[in-house]
Amino acid sequence: MENRKLVMIPGPTPTVRSINDQMGRETVAFGDPEFVNDFSELIVDLKEMWGVNGECFVVAGSGTMAMEMAIANVTKRDDNVLIVSNGFFGDRFIDICTRKGLNIDVLSAEWGDIVSVEDIENKLKEKDYAAITVTHVDTSTGARAPIEEIGKVIRKFPNTVYIVDGVAATAGEREYVDKMGIDILFTGSQKAFGVAPGLAILWAGQKALNRRKSLGTIPEYYIDFEKWIPIMNDPTKYYATPAVNMIWALKESVRLIKEEGIEERYERHTRVSHAFNASLEALGFEILTKKEYRCSTLSTVLYPEGIEDGEFRRILAEEGVMVAGGLGDYAGKMFRIGHMGNIDDHTIYSTMATIERTLIKLGYKYEVGIGLKTLLEKM
Ligand SMILES: Cc1ncc(COP(=O)(O)O)c(C=O)c1O
Repeated sequence: MENRKLVMIPGPTPTVRSINDQMGRETVAFGDPEFVNDFSELIVDLKEMWGVNGECFVVAGSGTMAMEMAIANVTKRDDNVLIVSNGFFGDRFIDICTRKGLNIDVLSAEWGDIVSVEDIENKLKEKDYAAITVTHVDTSTGARAPIEEIGKVIRKFPNTVYIVDGVAATAGEREYVDKMGIDILFTGSQKAFGVAPGLAILWAGQKALNRRKSLGTIPEYYIDFEKWIPIMNDPTKYYATPAVNMIWALKESVRLIKEEGIEERYERHTRVSHAFNASLEALGFEILTKKEYRCSTLSTVLYPEGIEDGEFRRILAEEGVMVAGGLGDYAGKMFRIGHMGNIDDHTIYSTMATIERTLIKLGYKYEVGIGLKTLLEKM
């Protein structure tokens, strides 16, 4: 009998039955009163739970579209933008901003490390930046940026809009928009919300909304905040067709988060990531990310001597667990594994047992069971 495949890449993450049920419902008209009510309630919940006195947007598209949407609504050609990059996804803003004709400066960290708050503050003093981008968790490195401390610094620069990429963080890492001084936060449905790919979710505070207003008509159409604000406040209105079933699925995810408790959810992610990283280290793997900057949503795992990436991931997949490869210079040197979203302890233990089965099949010499034992002790 074939093993069921656990999707343990850092997004999409496993989807639970109640969320799948929403995605599989018969679609209704977007003006259907029941759907309109569901959509309205979802927006209210998202604003409240992520603490924004502003707007929340739920729009069909991926995380990359949300990146572009954030930039499009707060900058105009020739504006200065500071990009803080801790890896591959931080760098993605370089291309997005360059294509829009923005003047960019980039602060980059070595992979596994982060750009310091001090360096960010010093750079912000150099010129007037219209916006700054920070990736909360860079999925290529597993490094978590100190978004709250950065937010404190940005308060001293009233012209700079603070954009946080929460794609690999939101709903797994603590984020409170207004309280942390964030102006735009965004994510995708397929990561720690545990919904299939397809929705971009953005929160925009008053500073970002004022900036959008001051820009007048912008060149972008589908991703214009001003076009979507009426719909997010009254879903009986039409602008572009909402992703009905995905919105239901996200609403179910939010219901699950409320049931768990959002703080409890963040704590669970912390507990699982500490235990999981310790187990991997006990097996002889190394974690790429410096200890103090390790995120709670995924692990970036360097192979010990003698384990070949392709073979490891192939056998692991045959045994039932899909993980992702390393990006950039780390392709072939590490794998990346997600532990975010709606994953229960069974899934975590099964994943670790599958990693051990794979190591045994590869003939890797280690203390058999030490990964699971460590997990049992630390979870
Ligand atoms: C941190 C981060 N930002 C942006 C993206 C891009 O999102 P998407 O692939 O949904 O377009 C990803 C994708 O993994 C990501 O991890």
